[in-house]
Amino acid sequence: MTPSPDDPRLRLSGIAKAFGGIQAVRGVSLDVRRGEILALCGENGAGKSTLAKILAGEIAPDAGTIALDGQPIHLPDPASAHRMGIAVIYQELNYVPTLTVAENVLLGRLPHRGPIVDWDAVNREARAILAPLAPHLDPRLPVAALPVAERQVVEIARALSLDARVIVMDEPTAALSQQEVHRLFALVRHLASTGVSVIYISHRLDEVFSLADRIAVLRDGALVDVWAVNQTNRAELVRAMVGRSVEELYPRRESTPGEPMLEVRDLSRVGKLVDVSFSVRTGEIVGVFGLLGSGADVLVKALFGAVRADRGEVIVGGRSLGLPTPGRARRAGIALVPGERKEEGLVLGMSVRENLSLSTLSAISEWGFIKQRTERTHAVEMVRALQVRTPGIEVPVGRLSGGNQQKVVLGRWLQARPRVFVLEEPTRGIDVGAKVEVYRLMENLAEEGAAILLVSSELPEILSMSDRILTIADGRLTAEFRRGAVTQEEVLDSAIGGAAA
Ligand SMILES: Nc1ncnc2c1ncn2[C@@H]1O[C@H](COP(=O)(O)OP(=O)(O)OP(=O)(O)O)[C@@H](O)[C@H]1O
Ligand SMILES: [Mg+2]
Repeated sequence: MTPSPDDPRLRLSGIAKAFGGIQAVRGVSLDVRRGEILALCGENGAGKSTLAKILAGEIAPDAGTIALDGQPIHLPDPASAHRMGIAVIYQELNYVPTLTVAENVLLGRLPHRGPIVDWDAVNREARAILAPLAPHLDPRLPVAALPVAERQVVEIARALSLDARVIVMDEPTAALSQQEVHRLFALVRHLASTGVSVIYISHRLDEVFSLADRIAVLRDGALVDVWAVNQTNRAELVRAMVGRSVEELYPRRESTPGEPMLEVRDLSRVGKLVDVSFSVRTGEIVGVFGLLGSGADVLVKALFGAVRADRGEVIVGGRSLGLPTPGRARRAGIALVPGERKEEGLVLGMSVRENLSLSTLSAISEWGFIKQRTERTHAVEMVRALQVRTPGIEVPVGRLSGGNQQKVVLGRWLQARPRVFVLEEPTRGIDVGAKVEVYRLMENLAEEGAAILLVSSELPEILSMSDRILTIADGRLTAEFRRGAVTQEEVLDSAIGGAAA
């Protein structure tokens, strides 16, 4: 068979894959056209990453065929996928942290001069590859020294440089800043205009609608719908994913905050934080919004003593911690759900139940041993509350889909019932249906008297969930807004305006 220009770039026919008793992908048949951006949507556990791994040559399908430009292909291993021009950017980062940025970008194809690696050429080539995405990134730095967002950029740059015919991106923007997302989108559009086909997996529906030509929906491993982007809308898409109508509503909070629970006074760190002062009362949710480099992440780390502040004071429940250290912060009852949850480390080989109880061990262990009944009851409740899709609580957490693993990390902290909660990007990677559950849980925590600091890059989430919103730029708080009395644009303006000033 000779390829013809009418052939789709990629044709999947009857692809199926089961893990033990779970049918992760069920007979998926789907064409991807040349130069098309096809969004792949679906709930946590719908089978998106499994499909991506099949295209990457990581997982062999149980059934079905794949054709590229009209030719049937086999993908027994990742090297074959590379040779075929299929590049996959995984949801889980894939870099080697001890290597430099340049080595990661050029992994497996370092330029040599004779038998010796030509380091000048390595750094030069890496710089050229990185230029359109991250012109300021130094290729000689070890990847371990970079913030997660930049590690993701390295990963993306590597895939983009492979001269691919098909690029699969599995939630590439989960850790990216708004600026980086814009650069990535420009690049993806450019690639598509040159004929590269892109499969774009995302839970962020705004991204899907602004980027994709068509949208495909997986539910329980089966393809349920494919639309041209202008022939559907958010409500229809959400219904197809979840299988029912979901009002994308945030809980309407009627809050009556009490006494100040967390007070921060003049917290400063040279070059990073300047006299940051605010308070969060019991029952109150305070949102913090800042762009990349604004200092929002430093503020969170300083509250926990993970970054040492030079000056200032943190007071919890009326008692001063002075400058926080990790130990003091924990003993005072501050809990952090960190944004970098992969680092925070689920123990992938341990069960969902064990992972859920890791942070509450002291609360549920009595006389030195863990009360198994209590632990099990908690785990079952949390799995139900967060709609964690798992065959059971005894299953190793490593077998869950990415989003379901996120829910377990979140659930672990939500069980701890501390007095002060700092939630960084609590709904990252979580599907639209389960997000609503996370918001309900936050609301319950506030009702029970917790003080919540919500640090998020999702403006709709900040606007709807916060009683008050603080914006931060250049390490300073630039504005404070009340719930309901502010628009996305105004919040964004204060986050940018401050930076320009
Ligand atoms: N290695 C594995 N062993 C056992 N089950 C697995 C394995 N990998 C995935 N699964 C199961 O296959 C199903 C599909 O998972 P997949 O990772 O493809 O979902 P997803 O659509 O990418 O979800 P998310 O949005 O959460 O990333 C899930 O039920 C998951 O638990
Ligand atoms: Mg996934």
